[in-house]
Amino acid sequence: MDKGTFHLNGRCVEFEPGQSILDAAADSGVEIPTLCYLKGATPTGACRICVVEVTGARSLIAACSTPVTDDMEVWTDTERVHRARKLNIELLLASGNHNCFSCESNGNCRLQDLAYSYGITDIPFTITPQPHPTEADNPFIIRDFSRCVLCGRCVQACNEVVVNRAISHGYRGGKSKIVAGTDQSYFDSDCVFCGQCVEVCPVGALVENKSRFKGRQWELEKVRTTCPYCGVGCQMWLHVDKKGKIVKVTAVEDGAPNKGRLCVKGRFAYDFIYSEDRLTAPLIKENGEFREASWDEALNLVAGKFSELKEKYGPDSIAGVSCARSINEDSYQMQKLFRSVIGTNNIDHCART
Ligand code: SF4
Ligand code: SF4
Ligand code: FES
Repeated sequence: MDKGTFHLNGRCVEFEPGQSILDAAADSGVEIPTLCYLKGATPTGACRICVVEVTGARSLIAACSTPVTDDMEVWTDTERVHRARKLNIELLLASGNHNCFSCESNGNCRLQDLAYSYGITDIPFTITPQPHPTEADNPFIIRDFSRCVLCGRCVQACNEVVVNRAISHGYRGGKSKIVAGTDQSYFDSDCVFCGQCVEVCPVGALVENKSRFKGRQWELEKVRTTCPYCGVGCQMWLHVDKKGKIVKVTAVEDGAPNKGRLCVKGRFAYDFIYSEDRLTAPLIKENGEFREASWDEALNLVAGKFSELKEKYGPDSIAGVSCARSINEDSYQMQKLFRSVIGTNNIDHCART
C-alpha cells in the first residue's frame, strides 16, 4: 500500500498505512512522551500522557491508540497539550505513595522522569490513601500497590507478550487494582514468575525481591550476556554492583531470540554462581564417601572405566548427554569424543527450557 501524508506540527510528513500517530511521529523524529504504551502489545490508551491536538477534534487524542489518516493535522507541542499532560502526571502522582527516596525505582522510573521534564514541584491534589497492602509473600516479586499507576503494562505483557494470562484489571474506581486470578497473591495464582510484569512496570510498583536495596540503577553496570540455562540463548543484561556482584538480571529488549522476554530461571535464578555448595574440584567416590581429586586423576579414572566398558561390551554400551549450558564448541567436542574416539552415535543434548 502507498504511503500517506499528514501534517505534523505544521510540517508535511509521510506515514505508513495503519500507523499510529505515535509511531508516525517517531519516524519523523518527533518524540511524544508515553507511559502505558508497550511496544508490540495492543495500545490501551490508559494513561493519556501521549495526548496531542488534532485539528477539528473536540478533545485531545491519545497518540498511541489513534491511527493517522491522510491530511490529518497533528500538534504535539501546544500549550493545551502540555497543560493536559502535566495535569495527568499530577493526578498519577496523587494516586499513590510516590516518595521517591525510598523507592527501588528511583532513577529508573518513567513517572519520575515525566514529573521532572514537566517541572512538577508539588502535587496540587490530596494524595489518595492506598486500600491494598503490599504483597511480599514470594521470593521473587514485591507488589507495592501504593506505587501502581494502573497503566496496565503488566497485564498487556502477561496476556499478550508471554501469554500466561495470570493477571488482569480488577475492582473499580478508587479500589482499582491489578489482580492475579481472583485477587489472589501471585504465589497462589497461575503466575509462573517469569517476571515479565516486573520488566515492563514503568514505576516502582513491581520490583524484584532479591535486588531490593542492592544498588541504585545509576550505580550498577550493565553487562550483556547469553543466558546460561538452556539452548535457546536468550539475551540478558547482568546488573553488576561496585563489588562485581550480580544483583539483577533483565532482558535485552530488542535482542533475538527472546526479544525482551525471560523465563523464571533466566531472570531470577542467577545467584547459583555464589552458592557455597558449588563443586570446585573433582570428587571420586571410594567406600561410599567422596574425596577430592586432581583433574588428572579424575580424568584418568573416567577414561580407564570407559575403555574397560568398551572392551567388554562394545562402544554402544556407552552414551553421552552433553550439558545444555555448554557453548557450541564444547558440545561439538563432546560429540567428536563419542563418535570418533569411543565409536558410538549414542550422544545427545539436554536442550530443555
Ligand atoms: S514509582 Fe517512581 S515516582 Fe513513584 S516513588 Fe517510585 S520512583 Fe518515585
Ligand atoms: S503494576 Fe506497574 S505495570 Fe502494572 S499497572 Fe501498576 S504501574 Fe502499571
Ligand atoms: S501512552 Fe498513550 S495513553 Fe498511555
